[in-house]
Amino acid sequence: MAIDLRSDTVTKPTDGMRAAMAAAEVGDDERDGDPTTRRLEQRVAALLGKEDALFFPSGCMANQAGVWLHAGRGTEVLLDVDAHIVHSEIAATAVLSGAQVLPVVPKGLVMTAADLRAAFRPDSRYVPAPSLVCIENTHNGAGGVVTALEDMRAIRAVAAERKLPVHLDGARLWNASVASGVPLDQFAAEADSVMVAFSKGLGAPVGAALAGTREAMVRAWTARKLFGGAMRQSGILASAVLYALDHHMDRLVDDHANAKTIATIIGGAGDARVVPPDTNIVMIDLSPRHASADIVRAAKARGVLVSEWSPTRLRMVTHLDVSSADAKRAGEVVRDLLSKAD
Ligand SMILES: Cc1ncc(COP(=O)(O)O)c(C=O)c1O
Repeated sequence: MAIDLRSDTVTKPTDGMRAAMAAAEVGDDERDGDPTTRRLEQRVAALLGKEDALFFPSGCMANQAGVWLHAGRGTEVLLDVDAHIVHSEIAATAVLSGAQVLPVVPKGLVMTAADLRAAFRPDSRYVPAPSLVCIENTHNGAGGVVTALEDMRAIRAVAAERKLPVHLDGARLWNASVASGVPLDQFAAEADSVMVAFSKGLGAPVGAALAGTREAMVRAWTARKLFGGAMRQSGILASAVLYALDHHMDRLVDDHANAKTIATIIGGAGDARVVPPDTNIVMIDLSPRHASADIVRAAKARGVLVSEWSPTRLRMVTHLDVSSADAKRAGEVVRDLLSKAD
């Protein structure tokens, strides 16, 4: 079987997870509540130190509900130019909330407070009013980069100067917490709404949550319904997430170690520049004489699946279904291809 490093979304439910799903107590969540979903929502709210949380079918939908809570029509949302909300959510901020994005180009790997401060437009009656600041932690496009707690606090302070709320795209906040040793609720305290995804590092088949104040989650329920995401016997899915929270959190350190192994093996081969991984994502910038598509094709022929992030950038993501031996083998295959193509 191929070693699949295209994303941490490719994991398959384990036998234990499937057994938990089969045994789940369920109800009609939209009509009068699903007990297992409610248990998950309360657990996630407690983990994130928020009053309440709501289970969503996807991270995109939960992110967009977070945007919808804060950003009105004709306003502007400030966030990193490479944020998932900017480049992978098909302009949903404009479509669903009527707000445009103001992409902030960071001086370094990810948006800092200084980058954000410099991005605000001079006040004028022509400019869209800023309504929201979003942070992505870890930052997928930058290579699983952790925004440190003090940097999040600084961004929050800049937003607060302008009385702007903050939404945190924490699809991989689990990885940020495990890598930095900072508890989830400390990161979450720096945002008004927080999205966490379950179908990535945690290995659940489906789902995400949005967390915030009780009042905000009442409004988020409306957003979820409006966006078509209200569910029925969702406890089948929520039970998989509860299982993942019990069994798959601590092992994220293995994914981070495997990413480091890959980075070390590939580093420098064929003049490639590897972004040193903070967490489970390895970005490899190729020299101009290599093309990502060629390496992706050749690696596939040797049983290793990697993604073409851009014509000159490869992405390899470690996860639950990648062992340390797999990581070593995948690193060696890509290293050999890059070296051979010299
Ligand atoms: C940073 C980030 N945010 C949001 C999402 C969206 O999550 P989903 O695929 O569950 O819609 C992803 C998915 O990869 C992501 O990487």
